[in-house]
Amino acid sequence: MSRHDRDAFIDYARLDGNIRRVRDKLKRPLTYSEKVLYSHIDNIDEADIRRGDSYLKLRPARVACQDATAQMAMIQFMSAGLPKFAVPTTVHCDHLIVAKDGKDSDLTNAGEANKEVYDFLRSVCAKYGGGFWEPGAGIIHQTVLENYAYPGGLIIGTDSHTPNGGGLGMAAVGVGGADAVDVMSGLPWELKTPKVIGIRLTGTLSGWTAPKDIILKLAGLLTVKGGTGSIVEYFGPGVDSLSCTGMATICNMGAETGATTSIFPYTQTMGRYLQATSRSWIEEGLRPWQHNLRADEGAEYDQVLEIDLSSLEPHINGPSTPDLATPLSSFKEEREKSGQPNELSAGLVGSCTNSSFGDLSRASSLLQQAIDAGLKPRAPLMLSPGSENTKRTLGDAGILDVFENAGTTLLANACGPCCGSWDRTSVQKGSVNSVITSYNRNFTGRLDGNPATAIYVASPEMVVAKSIAGKLDFDPTIDSIPLPDGTDFKFQPPPAELLPPNGYVQADYVLTKPPVDPRQVEIALSPDSDRIQLLEPFRPWSGHDYEDLPILIKVEGKCTTDHITPAGPWFRYRGHLDNISNNTLIGAINAANKEVNTVQNVFTGRWDGVSATAREYKSRGQQWVVIADHNYGEGSSREHAALQPRFLNGVAIIARSFARIHETNLKKQGMLPLIFANPADYDRIDPKDRISLNGLASVGKGEPVTMLVVKENGEKWTIELQHTFNPEQYEFFVAGSALNLMNQRKG
Ligand code: F3S
Repeated sequence: MSRHDRDAFIDYARLDGNIRRVRDKLKRPLTYSEKVLYSHIDNIDEADIRRGDSYLKLRPARVACQDATAQMAMIQFMSAGLPKFAVPTTVHCDHLIVAKDGKDSDLTNAGEANKEVYDFLRSVCAKYGGGFWEPGAGIIHQTVLENYAYPGGLIIGTDSHTPNGGGLGMAAVGVGGADAVDVMSGLPWELKTPKVIGIRLTGTLSGWTAPKDIILKLAGLLTVKGGTGSIVEYFGPGVDSLSCTGMATICNMGAETGATTSIFPYTQTMGRYLQATSRSWIEEGLRPWQHNLRADEGAEYDQVLEIDLSSLEPHINGPSTPDLATPLSSFKEEREKSGQPNELSAGLVGSCTNSSFGDLSRASSLLQQAIDAGLKPRAPLMLSPGSENTKRTLGDAGILDVFENAGTTLLANACGPCCGSWDRTSVQKGSVNSVITSYNRNFTGRLDGNPATAIYVASPEMVVAKSIAGKLDFDPTIDSIPLPDGTDFKFQPPPAELLPPNGYVQADYVLTKPPVDPRQVEIALSPDSDRIQLLEPFRPWSGHDYEDLPILIKVEGKCTTDHITPAGPWFRYRGHLDNISNNTLIGAINAANKEVNTVQNVFTGRWDGVSATAREYKSRGQQWVVIADHNYGEGSSREHAALQPRFLNGVAIIARSFARIHETNLKKQGMLPLIFANPADYDRIDPKDRISLNGLASVGKGEPVTMLVVKENGEKWTIELQHTFNPEQYEFFVAGSALNLMNQRKG
């Protein structure tokens, strides 16, 4: 399966047999994503396969965890009391490295600041047979693409951009830690059978248009909700011209549409990428089976969209939401209307989304043109390489020198600003400014924790060109930059994308493999730690309906996992549920006063922080609910967003709709994600209303919940709440959590 897993194999013959069985069962042609997903079903003969409806029990081939989510996943895995991981598992130390001064000092500081977390995760990997990618080894999705992804495979990862692996023809799905624990424990992983959105690509990219522009355009078409419950599957003649890493970029950012994952069929460029990353044996092994690595003739999609690459323009998306897509030709006008500052305060390239050799060689060609003309970026430029392999390969090709000659700050091979771990001193909090990045996400406060930073997303080429000009509305296809000698400098379009001529450097020293005999390994965990805390099981459901509950907060508008449990400085407490719960919902807007982190305690009348109020309720033994708007929990797989409300005595989130991963996470932690049958009922609820939830005993049979609302003046009304619980998930609720259920079943 990889150079690092000598005893795990890819069995394309078995995959072929499974695909035939599924095709015989369904009696219809299959899309490519269906082939990959269904060939990993636990028991194909008994499976109920209905897109958008039934639940599948799947057997992923491996699990990857990043260090922020791995802490809680590993704490939960340890509670299962098993001797080793049931499938190949890796941990990647990428999220906890704070970007400040540059790679060397940032890495040293992270090593000191996070020592106990790294020691804990390293020891867990050693004990249970996992691979530990050391701090600075790279960003999880690049490391997976370079080492573990393979066409036709199924992987889950505890990060929402896991779909990056779809660029190598893999179904790679972002999940919460509790799902990862199931798979690491040898249980099947449950997923509602996704619908399939087909994206037909025609034509070829050229000039300034990059693979990133395909997903920037698509995010605009689908919006942040349009992919929910679906896999986005690409096909058509335009696919063959795309590079493997370009396709990975597209799949990576497909997460911004809410899609379960995104995937490309096998192409020759994937074969070349496998060779360049020292995995020729996979490329050779799959040759006889290539017919399984694309959709069947006549396969049907639930929806088809078409994008013509030849006429596609570069796009700039943002600010505040990744689906606000603007073509380059109308961006000047739109920027002016938005009133956001035209002066760029920073340009950021790299991250898991756009740090391939191809991306950065194209971007560096623009820098070289500028250097040759005597120019340097007018906006500070920062680069986060995706992995040590890629960074060394870029170094050997002289590409890093170009970035350094242009005055770029080279950050560690880590997420850094992308996950809010940016200790930004040059711009004060609250100061209005514009930033452009080649990352994937641009929610308010995402990079530097400053809600006044307007974040725009574009291709690396566009980020570099605009950073050199220092202006957000600079259009490198038509604009020029005045030079001191009175002439004008105009960019030539970047060259076509290339693979490194001698392949990628294999920097294996950044991976710590587990010992052959793990019996002597002790888990590194201090009982006094304020970073890592073992979990106390949640209490099972009492068997009674919930009566007369206060609303902790009625959330207004967008509420992503960043609003529910922000990142940045809070990363510190990802392994300590009590401590991290202090940030619960601090970014959510309270409908009562339009403010963040100020809610009224219904018992004392006092206005206080959300978490402080929840703790006060908990100290009274009082349970509570949250009322929320559309797509609650969009964004990331961060299961803390479900664990924290549960820990603080929350029992239900009642929303107009949920993001898929978060909805599952809530169920796994024994919470009730409930959906207004009539979305307009959200508007009828006042934050001071009291809520009763009736009919909970029938939820496992698919029955709706009846919500009784009692107003302050005693007026009452009832409404219906829907849900997506299946019988197994309902057992999580009854047992108190999925982990409780697992332990009960173990006996
Ligand atoms: Fe890291 Fe990529 Fe997420 S850089 S923060 S894994 S979007």
